[in-house]
Amino acid sequence: MQSTKKNFLTSFIIFFLLLINSHAVFANKINSLHPCKNLVFYFHDIIYNGHNAHNATSAIVGEPAWGNKTILASKNHFGNLIAFDDPITLDNNLHSTQVGRAQGFYLYDKKDIFTSWLGFSFVFNSTEHRGSINFAGADPLMNKTRDISVIGGTGNFFMARGVATLMTDAFEGEVYFRLRVDIKLYECWR
Ligand SMILES: *[C@@H]1O[C@H](CO)[C@@H](O)[C@H](O)[C@H]1NC(C)=O
Ligand SMILES: *[C@@H]1O[C@H](CO)[C@@H](O)[C@H](O)[C@H]1NC(C)=O
Ligand SMILES: *[C@@H]1O[C@H](CO)[C@@H](O)[C@H](O)[C@H]1NC(C)=O
Ligand SMILES: *[C@@H]1O[C@H](CO)[C@@H](O)[C@H](O)[C@H]1NC(C)=O
Repeated sequence: MQSTKKNFLTSFIIFFLLLINSHAVFANKINSLHPCKNLVFYFHDIIYNGHNAHNATSAIVGEPAWGNKTILASKNHFGNLIAFDDPITLDNNLHSTQVGRAQGFYLYDKKDIFTSWLGFSFVFNSTEHRGSINFAGADPLMNKTRDISVIGGTGNFFMARGVATLMTDAFEGEVYFRLRVDIKLYECWR
């Protein structure tokens, strides 16, 4: 008799815990419809072209057999890997005060169209933002806007997650481009 009572109580508690848990998952989904933080930045990439070593913020570090490290390869730059350390600004002016650096790489990864894969961090060191935001994802460059993932962060952006919408704001041949980054965080802990 006593044991049946105990069993009943145990299953009731388990049922109750499951209920709380499913409610938490549900609540999380509802919350995720609204960004908890919305940030806009620009970053500026000056690609080394054989003549601008002092000014360049990025360089080809890998190339296919038919290419070299001075000029981006033919076939939509397929196989070129570029390392960068680009200034981040709050507006579209290259000469505005830097709030941090965009650091990482892009890899041109398709022969027949112009597209790349991005893996980089925003490393902040300003009075307004400290810490980093980490990004990864496919960047089909011909699209007006491209979404990549915010996969994490540190400091002010501790464990952040969300989506960043990239837009090519300007480009000058194959020497300079500027991206506008519209960040929507759906998980904020700070
Ligand atoms: C550095 O690059 C920028 C962007 O292309 C350009 O406006 C500027 O004239 C360059 N400066 C030098 C010294 O090459
Ligand atoms: C690199 O490749 C480009 C285009 O194919 C060529 O014009 C240039 O001379 C090459 N540079 C070197 C240093 O091999
Ligand atoms: C961040 O900025 C402070 C103050 O300007 C400076 O002392 C510090 O070295 C910087 N840290 C990094 C990692 O750039
Ligand atoms: C890029 O544009 C194409 C054609 O407009 C579209 O089908 C595709 O979903 C877009 N990709 C991204 C990642 O936005």
